[in-house]
Amino acid sequence: MSNFLELRNITKRFPGVVANDAVSLEVKAGEVLALLGENGAGKSTLISILYGLYRPEEGQILLEGKPVQIASPRHALQLGIGLVPQHPLLVSRHTVAENLALGSSGLFPAGRIAPKIEQLAAQYGLTVDPKAKISQLSPGEKQRVEILRSLLGGARVLILDEPTSVLTPQEAESLFAVMRNLREAGKSLIFISHKLEEVLSITDRIVVLRRGKVVGGLATKDATKQKLAELMVGRNVDFSRKRQPVQIGAPILEVSNLSAKNSRGLEALKNVSFTLAQGQVLGVAGVAGNGQSELIEVLAGLHPPSSGQVKFEGTDLEPNPAKRFEAGIAHIPEDRIHMGTVPTMTVAENLSLRQYSQAPLSNNGIRDLIALETNAKEKILEYTIATPSSQTPSRLLSGGNIQKVILARELGANAKLILAVHPTYGLDIGATDQVHSVLLERTKSGAAVLLVSEDLEELLSLSDQIAILYHGQLKGPFPVTEITREQIGLYMTGGAV
Ligand SMILES: Nc1ncnc2c1ncn2[C@@H]1O[C@H](COP(=O)(O)OP(=O)(O)OP(=O)(O)O)[C@@H](O)[C@H]1O
Ligand SMILES: [Mg+2]
Repeated sequence: MSNFLELRNITKRFPGVVANDAVSLEVKAGEVLALLGENGAGKSTLISILYGLYRPEEGQILLEGKPVQIASPRHALQLGIGLVPQHPLLVSRHTVAENLALGSSGLFPAGRIAPKIEQLAAQYGLTVDPKAKISQLSPGEKQRVEILRSLLGGARVLILDEPTSVLTPQEAESLFAVMRNLREAGKSLIFISHKLEEVLSITDRIVVLRRGKVVGGLATKDATKQKLAELMVGRNVDFSRKRQPVQIGAPILEVSNLSAKNSRGLEALKNVSFTLAQGQVLGVAGVAGNGQSELIEVLAGLHPPSSGQVKFEGTDLEPNPAKRFEAGIAHIPEDRIHMGTVPTMTVAENLSLRQYSQAPLSNNGIRDLIALETNAKEKILEYTIATPSSQTPSRLLSGGNIQKVILARELGANAKLILAVHPTYGLDIGATDQVHSVLLERTKSGAAVLLVSEDLEELLSLSDQIAILYHGQLKGPFPVTEITREQIGLYMTGGAV
């Protein structure tokens, strides 16, 4: 196979960090290349260079053997390089066809684009209705529109940055089918994911980055989970089940007949009841959008219930997020960037957001800057947050490191109930392992965890009990030893068991 794209000694520096350090790699025509690496290893930076968003300070990019300067995303696509962004950049109130016509810069007017969409859709298995409004599409469908946009623009290499993090397992499978079809047709794909199973099943070759440098490259058929983990992290990683039996204490959270409406006024949570005791982990499985957000927001005090009762340590709590946090309810939110941090604030400030006005970070209303800094330094070390300094605005951190800032702040020592929504979403295996250990550590000292996750492996390896949300109704909880994956899968799709 010939090299379609080649990077030679690409170096990109940001203040305080070398994000890409003399990176060289090739992408052949008709192959799927995985880019693997820990949080902050430099994957997104490398892709931004390929897509014309950043200019490297050093190095060369060659396209079919010829040096090119990629000036902008539009230029990248003209050269045949397409990007499927993690968060779609589509106009919600317009239709699929209108969006694609807009993106094709006059190449395909709206009236004539539908047959072209249908042809590409059929060729690659990209089912989407050209007349549907973007706002009506699922995350998986929006992603297909982004893929179509790149293909219409003539992409020969398609870059996918953590494409499966927003997908259900079923949607991920259909994305993989599309990826295989594209490869068959001779296209090249660059695939980024923290999920090693996916990398092993869909890619042909793997390049591993660590701290901006290429530390290894191998054919996927020669790779194992263990080998990849060691290359990424530089040490041995343990994949076995982590949960040890713990002492179950007094009930800490009692939820009875809880119902809540969603933001559109529809009943999203219906008569949910369960009890959670000290030391317990209750895993909530379910396809996103089945009431998980409403349940967590009601418990965190962010959203009023329409009926039912929530008791925390035997008493009713005011529906006030700050008061609930003080009482010992920690919340690792779903939307980590907008709800979890203030992007323009520094890492140190974000790490202390919740305790800003309390001792020891503040005395009589005056912030103690030294205490703030000490707190930040400790947490940066404990959670290995990769940041140039504690004074860096958090928006400049890599995705996974922003997540670590939230965890470090929320999992303070006084948390009695931890509401954890996808706590390891976007985290590399080292950091995932670390978050799991912290959660389990907290249960040993009597905290309870309500874990919402779409990752069955994670749920099964951490939970004592599993419950499933489907259309706002809760099945279970069942002891983890008494339910199989298949049963969980069936409940998730509303099937009777
Ligand atoms: N615009 C920027 N300004 C300053 N530093 C940046 C900028 N973008 C990235 N960085 C830094 O460069 C390094 C590499 O970040 P990058 O986003 O490429 O990592 P990544 O491998 O994609 O990580 P993740 O898996 O967490 O998404 C990190 O240390 C990050 O903080
Ligand atoms: Mg990234």
